Amino acid sequence: MECTAEADTWVGSAPGKLILFGEHAVVYGQPAIAVPVTGVQARATVTGGEAGSGVWLVCCDLPPCEDRGLLPTPDGGAPASGCRYALRGAAADDPLRGAVALALARFSDAERGISGMEPDIVLTITSTIPIARGLGSGAAVATAVIRSLAAYFGRQPSNDEVSGLVFEVEKLFHGTPSGIDNTVIAYQQPVYFVRGEGMTPLRVGSPFSLVIADSGAPSSTREVVGTVRQRWHAEPQRYDALFDSIGAIARIARRHIETGDWRSMAGLMDENQALLEQMGVSSPALDRLIEAARSAGAVGAKLSGAGRGGCILAAAERHAIAAVSGALRSAGAAQVLVTEVA
Ligand code: MEV
Repeated sequence: MECTAEADTWVGSAPGKLILFGEHAVVYGQPAIAVPVTGVQARATVTGGEAGSGVWLVCCDLPPCEDRGLLPTPDGGAPASGCRYALRGAAADDPLRGAVALALARFSDAERGISGMEPDIVLTITSTIPIARGLGSGAAVATAVIRSLAAYFGRQPSNDEVSGLVFEVEKLFHGTPSGIDNTVIAYQQPVYFVRGEGMTPLRVGSPFSLVIADSGAPSSTREVVGTVRQRWHAEPQRYDALFDSIGAIARIARRHIETGDWRSMAGLMDENQALLEQMGVSSPALDRLIEAARSAGAVGAKLSGAGRGGCILAAAERHAIAAVSGALRSAGAAQVLVTEVA
């Protein structure tokens, strides 16, 4: 099975994302700050398929068919680590099916049901974004798929339109998303985000570096957001106060980023982390990585995304990046990435 596509191709791509401040609180109307992570990417490529074939999905770097409740295709075409299947055979809760269906409904001219308007194409999806690690893998794959199908149909959707479609996919699979992931990924630029208020670009006064460490443990956004919601119902005053405090931190962090005072911003990461710990969304593995980063000279560190697993991020002086990265690896990080926020 080929994981690359050649002639007559239509391509869409999207970066990963990192939430700097405000995860969880953003679901409850507080501001949050997120940046794209361009060092990891999702990519979708459309090529022509056989007449009458409909849409086939070839997913490389994604869990194998069996893990997704799909059977390998009779022609034995499943890639070693991934899955090849017909859209028609996809489960109703398959996120890629959702993204493709929405894109076909928006960009193809047909106004019929999905089986009536399927073009004969192969959609090859690759991604270097670790899955379920708070780096926006799902939203990035959906963005890449939607952009590639728009290109195939000769459309040039705005970032806002793409973000809106990806938000619909997120709603199908993540319950009550705030909309920050689809926004930062579709616009591919730092954002200051308030749910329901649309996109506010964030001007970065002075570039700074972040070290990202993957704990190796998955983080289910749906589950952790659901747990926080249950706790909020049980203790509304306590959780509202935590959300308010996180929102206040995000507002101050915005000013520091805009004025180029990233060291003061980094100090706020520690404060944000303390509140996330009180919220119960950190974990021993995340705490260990955060402590390792701070001990190795990071100016500030916190978890990023839904938590319980996934990634941490640490802000560090350029000269300390190697030491912080090494300490994170020694503390058990499955992968360490460095990204520049500019
Ligand atoms: C997930 O990337 C961030 C959360 O705040 C959920 C959301 O904003 O939808 C945990």
